[in-house]
Amino acid sequence: MNQSKYPFGDAEITALRERVIEEMSPKRFHHTAAVEDMVTRLATLFCPEDIPALRVAALLHDITKEYDVPTHKAILTRFGQAPEAGEEYAYKTFHARTAALLIPEKYPAFNCETVVSAVRWHTTGRAGMTLTEKLLYLADYIDESRLFPDCVRLRSFFWNGSPEGMTMEERHTHLRRTLIMSYDMTMRALLSEDAVISPDTALARNELVLEELMCCR
Ligand SMILES: [Fe+2]
Ligand SMILES: [Fe+2]
Repeated sequence: MNQSKYPFGDAEITALRERVIEEMSPKRFHHTAAVEDMVTRLATLFCPEDIPALRVAALLHDITKEYDVPTHKAILTRFGQAPEAGEEYAYKTFHARTAALLIPEKYPAFNCETVVSAVRWHTTGRAGMTLTEKLLYLADYIDESRLFPDCVRLRSFFWNGSPEGMTMEERHTHLRRTLIMSYDMTMRALLSEDAVISPDTALARNELVLEELMCCR
């Protein structure tokens, strides 16, 4: 018998999807459903046992994306994480923090470490990312609803490399190279806008670049 690692399965995930549809705009849900599809495809290659948690994380990753900045600040303050001076210049990263904070109280049936940490780090990344954190981060970048040139280019890079035919070791190398490209694209876009770059993004990128240098050049 197949024993799932998680206390939720298809029925609970279907019910969650129906609840999430009610809590966001159609546009946001269209993206959310596309991330769920993409993270399922990615997890099938790397960690099929984690598909239930990653589908849930995809459904919950942007549940607070449409909140305004004062609402984010109020949630962060309630959890003792009031933004410090200057953090509001990176307000686009708030929703990952607030969504992760709200999961235990709003969606207690899905409050597990794999779900919460994938949601928490899906926007900035961080040093020492787990595999499941990396897969949600990437799925959010290359889901089929995204038509920005960088997203299309990264989606093509990953899937045109035919990861299905690779060994697991080759897949991890391909994932690392894809993630490095994604961080480089993100940082270039932020630089072109004179925007603040999260230290977590820089640390995540540097760690992967060092891994690549030590292993493969
Ligand atoms: Fe997001
Ligand atoms: Fe997203």
